[in-house]
Amino acid sequence: MALGVLLVLLAPELPASTWAAFPCNVIPSRLESFAKLSQGTISSWWSHVEMGPPDPILGVTEAFKRDTNSKKMNLGVGAYRDDNGKPYVLNCVRKAEAMIAAKKMDKEYLPIAGLADFTRASAELALGENSEAFKSGRYVTVQGISGTGSLRVGANFLQRFFKFSRDVYLPKPSWGNHTPIFRDAGLQLQAYRYYDPKTCSLDFTGAMEDISKIPEKSIILLHACAHNPTGVDPRQEQWKELASVVKKRNLLAYFDMAYQGFASGDINRDAWALRHFIEQGIDVVLSQSYAKNMGLYGERAGAFTVICRDAEEAKRVESQLKILIRPMYSNPPMNGARIASLILNTPELRKEWLVEVKGMADRIISMRTQLVSNLKKEGSSHNWQHITDQIGMFCFTGLKPEQVERLTKEFSIYMTKDGRISVAGVASSNVGYLAHAIHQVTK
Ligand code: LMR
Repeated sequence: MALGVLLVLLAPELPASTWAAFPCNVIPSRLESFAKLSQGTISSWWSHVEMGPPDPILGVTEAFKRDTNSKKMNLGVGAYRDDNGKPYVLNCVRKAEAMIAAKKMDKEYLPIAGLADFTRASAELALGENSEAFKSGRYVTVQGISGTGSLRVGANFLQRFFKFSRDVYLPKPSWGNHTPIFRDAGLQLQAYRYYDPKTCSLDFTGAMEDISKIPEKSIILLHACAHNPTGVDPRQEQWKELASVVKKRNLLAYFDMAYQGFASGDINRDAWALRHFIEQGIDVVLSQSYAKNMGLYGERAGAFTVICRDAEEAKRVESQLKILIRPMYSNPPMNGARIASLILNTPELRKEWLVEVKGMADRIISMRTQLVSNLKKEGSSHNWQHITDQIGMFCFTGLKPEQVERLTKEFSIYMTKDGRISVAGVASSNVGYLAHAIHQVTK
């Protein structure tokens, strides 16, 4: 009531409907500009818009680009580099592109749910060709705009149709973009213990304790493999225990699988946890990305899948996903999906891809070993074992924010403030420099 009176006093000539649409969380100082605007005395519609902070991950790249030091390293964003430190386009991708170009295909709209050959192959890749859920057709997969877009479609779907809870439980910590994705979709963020900073490894007891207390029928987000940002994954026996507590609590498991093949070099091993949950009768939802495992970062190829009770339910869910997607972006982009689909569906290209994805995973694993041996050479007496124990693109170094700041200021080494480094951005030529710099700020 008090706010309503204030609004009317500030701009009495505006109709009541204006105030009805006015967000009630706007603080009074902003009301002044709004009132001035209504009196025609303000120079801009957007004077109340405050400067926002740079993105915690992509903002690191912006700062890196401005640095002129020839030794600079960008270990912020998770983007694979070859051993010369250059962005890497996979041979199978180049071949698929050539095949697509030769076919002179049209540029008509894709269907709302995306390219059918791509969505089917994505489901098969994730679930496995022998999966009962896949073979019986009790799933729906729609194309998404890489991992982020697929998560966002998923989050919006849950917001609209998951009638049991608004709460999404994220591991602590989780990928920085998970929070805004689910929050902007209207869901509430909660957390469960996952990482133990003292040991730089999984806090399995904490995770089990927290998950067993999550209210029934809530949503839990799980990283299928190569947990981002920590690089810490549960072992298979631990996944089994996690699956049983998730089942017992009757939670909806949301798997984010952005690194299939990229963690161990083996697509089946990396999908093990997801497949195990489904085999246990847990009807999961899943987001996939081809940014990392096919290096299709800017092509924005991804997928969102819902495992349903039966094929008929899957049809109903698909119809609603299409209704959700249509007003968001109408239909997805075709190029990345065509490339990924050709690779997945052409035996020779698929074979070549599996070798290349293993090559990328192996190079990252060897950079971890080299980093640790270079730190030892530098004379570091710290225990760096977690660098080789962790898996996937990222290493959660355990460096403190002040140490991260020094690495950037004194050595032009860029990383996220939480001490995460993208090991995929390290090369044979600069791993020694990185070790030297880390030793300087930690000794
Ligand atoms: C990352 O965590 O660096 C990647 O997933 C890229 C991104 O979009 O944040």
